[in-house]
Order: sequence, then structure tokens, then C-alpha cells
Amino acid sequence: MAYISEETLKAIREKVNIVDVIGKRIPLTQRGKNYMGVCPFHDDHSPSMSVSPDKQIYKCFSCGAAGNVFTFIQNYENVAWNEAVAMLGDSVGIHIETGSTKKINETFKKEYEVMNLAELYFQNNLKSSYGTQAMEYLKNRGITEDIITTFGIGLSLDKSDGLKSLFDKKEYSMEMVKELGLVNQDDRDIFVRRIIFPLWDKDGQVVGFSGRIYRGEEINKYLNTRESKIFKKGELLYNYHNAKDVAKREKYILVVEGFMDAIRLSACGIKNVVALMTTSLTSNQAELLKKLRVEVVLCLDNDNAGLTGMINDGMLLQKANIPTKVILMSGAKDPDEYILKNGIEAFQNLLREPLSYFDFRLIRAKEGKDFNKPTDLAQYINEVIEILKDVDDDILKEVTINKLANDYNIDASLLKERINFEKETTLVIKENSNKMAKNKEKRNIKDEIAKKMLYYMMNDGKFINIYKKRLGFIDNEELRGLANEIMYYYANHRNINIADFISYMGDKNLNDILQEIMSLNMEENLVEEAMNEYINTYYRLMVKAQIGELKEKMAKETDINKKMEIASRIAELKKGGVDNASN
Ligand code: UTP
Ligand code: MN
Repeated sequence: MAYISEETLKAIREKVNIVDVIGKRIPLTQRGKNYMGVCPFHDDHSPSMSVSPDKQIYKCFSCGAAGNVFTFIQNYENVAWNEAVAMLGDSVGIHIETGSTKKINETFKKEYEVMNLAELYFQNNLKSSYGTQAMEYLKNRGITEDIITTFGIGLSLDKSDGLKSLFDKKEYSMEMVKELGLVNQDDRDIFVRRIIFPLWDKDGQVVGFSGRIYRGEEINKYLNTRESKIFKKGELLYNYHNAKDVAKREKYILVVEGFMDAIRLSACGIKNVVALMTTSLTSNQAELLKKLRVEVVLCLDNDNAGLTGMINDGMLLQKANIPTKVILMSGAKDPDEYILKNGIEAFQNLLREPLSYFDFRLIRAKEGKDFNKPTDLAQYINEVIEILKDVDDDILKEVTINKLANDYNIDASLLKERINFEKETTLVIKENSNKMAKNKEKRNIKDEIAKKMLYYMMNDGKFINIYKKRLGFIDNEELRGLANEIMYYYANHRNINIADFISYMGDKNLNDILQEIMSLNMEENLVEEAMNEYINTYYRLMVKAQIGELKEKMAKETDINKKMEIASRIAELKKGGVDNASN
């Protein structure tokens, strides 16, 4: 595993000029100090990407793509971070070996080593003479050698002490191997006679496995490793680490049920796909999808569970404000089968015209009903009214009601009345949620200011010193994480510039937020007055929020002593202020 040192990264970055590298790929024209070009990361015709030779960074004012020369190549050429570094290194005579440079989470270093070893063991089995029958099975399913390599597919043997004896010889504790779900309490391998699919966390580290039968045995089709401290099924989306960058470029992510579907689609060139591995999306998974800031296209299995799943998953996505579309297939159970039957072009045609989530709901409501029967028709109309309750778009509501009234010869005002009645009864709930939205908005203003402070800090060490001296804390965990990275970087390097800081961040989780901050439209000259003003405002808002929380707590508190204690804390907060930087 080749680790690329910061010195090497800096050396390469300083030898290549970002204007040349980007200019070779897209036409750039000079505008003042910077260069402008048409951004390749979103569909556009006007030049919205700015490249700065001084800072050696690029940012798009339209889609928010931003980074240094390495991230540009990574995204433009669609390669891994380390490959992008190697490509640019080669162009200036600094040769580095690629291989995974992922910085692994040190806390679980041993666990990850165990999983990586197991993965290799399974992969070797498939390649050995034991693997003939399994290879045959895969071949029959249209799984090529290429797909096998890309998805790290392997095999567990007939004997039940394969992994066990492998780990007996190594220095890892059997306790850990068992905890990770590879060996059971009776010292037998969990996976026997199964084709093995590695399951990765959101960063691409193998955290679990799923094994499929391939000899037609009458047992569970798939067996998964049990949940462990590194494997939480509801927190991962199969193939997320491969799909996320492509999804950002394509502006949508396809969500399927089985990982075989994701593998098939990916092999056919639709790489912005993830698999849930169940029909119900968890809020953690929704969170991961939301991070991409793209449309979600649901295409679960064409059976009752899948169709119901899409209603519920879609509802969760709508609540999280994620634009959602749905694809329905006919004549096949799942995307894998559909593509094998009809070809990838047929699937691509479906993708071109996905249903809106709303239309999908209407189609489902019609299913299985005979509109000649008054009871069926009434049930349908009631269901539509229910669906309309969740719709915010007034025009869509109006159009739907009028169409319904027209199609089935019902008085439109009666339908409206029903919906308005629903509206009144839900008014109280709405009011409460409005209040919550307002609170959220306030929190967001605070975050926006914090992002500006972070922008300043990334650009000049003097702003880091001001932050440390005057504030030193951001109450949003993600932003605080970035602030800490910046301070850590500065402490070690004694200076900071944005292009090198991006290299340092490499493939870390905080990259989305880093991009967002970089692409903020900020003034050219960063001055201390502005930074101080941000800190003052931030501090004020933070105290206000804290006081608000304490007041709420005080109102709920019944113990008079505790009430007074909270009151005095509020008074203290009201008194205190933030230090001034000038002294
Ligand atoms: P499916 O049964 O739809 O999988 O289950 P599939 O992709 O069509 O599988 P093939 O084509 O028969 O090989 C969807 C997902 O549910 C989980 C798996 O993660 C699978 O990808 N599953 C299914 C299990 O965990 N256990 C099972 O027994 C079945
Ligand atoms: Mn299938």
C-alpha cells in the first residue's frame, strides 16, 4: 500500500500549473487575475468555472465543484485520488506507486486488517481449482472476470475451518474474528460453500460480507456477517464509495434493492448506483444520499415488497427534501433480470423518463381496483386525498383535484372541502413544524457564518490565530471537525494555503463541506475586520441559541433549586461577551 507523503504531494502540485492542466482539457480564457471556462462537472454552456493561478485552485460558481489540481483530475478523469496524483506525478517526472492510499481509521485498524485478509482469502479460493463450479455459476449469470475483480467477489470452501485455521496462524485474537462475524462460537466458519461479496462502508473499507448459495441448496439464499462495531447494515449503501462521484456528475443516483442489481448496472456502465440490500431505507442511508445533493431515482424490485418499499422510502426522502423519482419495470423481477432480458438500452430508456414520486403514488393507488365498483372508486379517491395531504405544490393539488372531479364526475368543491378540512385539523401540527423550521433557519445562519470563518482560516494563518484566540469553538460538529483539521495542519506546517490543505485532506470524509466552503463567493481581499465581525456575530448567535435551549429546559424543570440554577446560568451567558482580537 503506497502512502503518498505530503512532501511528494506538494512537490507535484508545485511543478504542475493548474491553469495548464485544466487548460489542456477545457478551453480557458483569462479574465483579470483568473481564468474562466465552461465547467465540465455540470451541464452548462456559459463559463462558470474560475481557475486561480495564484491560489492554484478552481471553483465553479454554478454547481459548486471546487478543489485543487488533484481533485480536478480525480473528477474529470474519474479516477481514484491516488491515481490522479500518480498521473500528474508522472507528467512532471515524480513517479509514485499507486495502490490504495486510503488513510484507514486507526481505531479499527486491526478489524480492517482482519477483513482485508478474509477478503483476499475468499478471492483466492475463487481463483483456485475449488472455484470451478462457482465460476461456472457466475459465468452463467453473465458475471465476467472484470466484474469479479471490480467487486472483489470470492468464494468460501466446503470445509468449515478455512478462515478459522487461517486466523489461527496469525496474531489476531479469535475473539475479534468471531466478533466480526467470520467464525461462530463453535469455531466453525460462518461462510461455507457460498460465493462471497464484500460489503463496504461509505469510504470503501470492507466491513462485512454476504455469501450466496450457488449449488441450488434449499437454504437461505444470502447469508450476511452479523452486525459488528464496524458493520452496521443500516448505515451503509452497497457501492456508495464507487457511485458518489459519478452521481454528482450525472446529477442523480439510482437506488436498487439487491447488490446483484447494482453490480449488473455498474457493469453495464451505469455506475451511479447503490443497493439498499432491503426494501426499507433507513434515515442514516437517507442522510448519505442527501449529502450528494442530487436527485434520487428509486428502482426496487417489481414485487409487493419492493413497490411498498418505494412508497415508504420515497416518503422518507421527500421529508428529507431530497428530490425523488421512481422507475417501474414490467416483465422482470428486478433490474438485473430486466437488463439480461431486454438489454441495457431498454433500461436506459426507462431512466430517461422516470415517474415523479407523486405520479407513482397515483399509479399505485389505482392498482387492483375496479372503477366500475363504487366502493373501489371511493377508496381510490380517498387514497388520492391522503396522498395530496403530503403535497406542498398548490398548483399540482388544484390540477389533480380538477382532473379527478372531471374523470369521475365528482363535485370538485367537495374534494377541496375534504382537503381543506384536513388542512384545518393539521394546522396546529403545521404551526409547530413551522416553528421548528425557523429554529433550523437560525442554526443555518450560524453555520453559514462559520463556513465563512473557515474560508478565511484556510487562506491565511493569521485568521487561524484570531479564531483560536477569540472563539476556538464551533457548535456544528462537522464544521468543528474541519476547523480542527485546519488548526492541526497549521500547527504542523506553520503556514497554510488552500491548495496544499486540499491535498492534505485527500480523501477524507469532510470533503463535501470543504468543497462547499471553497466555492463560497467571497471577497478577494480577506481582512481582519471581517473575520472579527464574523466571530462577533457567530458568538452572539451561539449564546442566543444556548440561552434559548436553557429557557426551554427551565420551563420544563419542576425542581425550584434546579430552576434557579438554570436561571443563573442564563444570566451569566447574557453577561459574558467575546474577547476582542486587538488586545
Ligand atoms: P433479492 O432476493 O432481491 O436479491 O434480495 P437478488 O439481487 O435478486 O439476488 P439474486 O439475483 O437472486 O442473486 C435483495 C437483497 O436482500 C438481501 C441481499 O442483500 C440482497 O441483495 N437478502 C436477500 C438477504 O440478506 N438474505 C436473503 O436470504 C435474501
Ligand atoms: Mn435478482
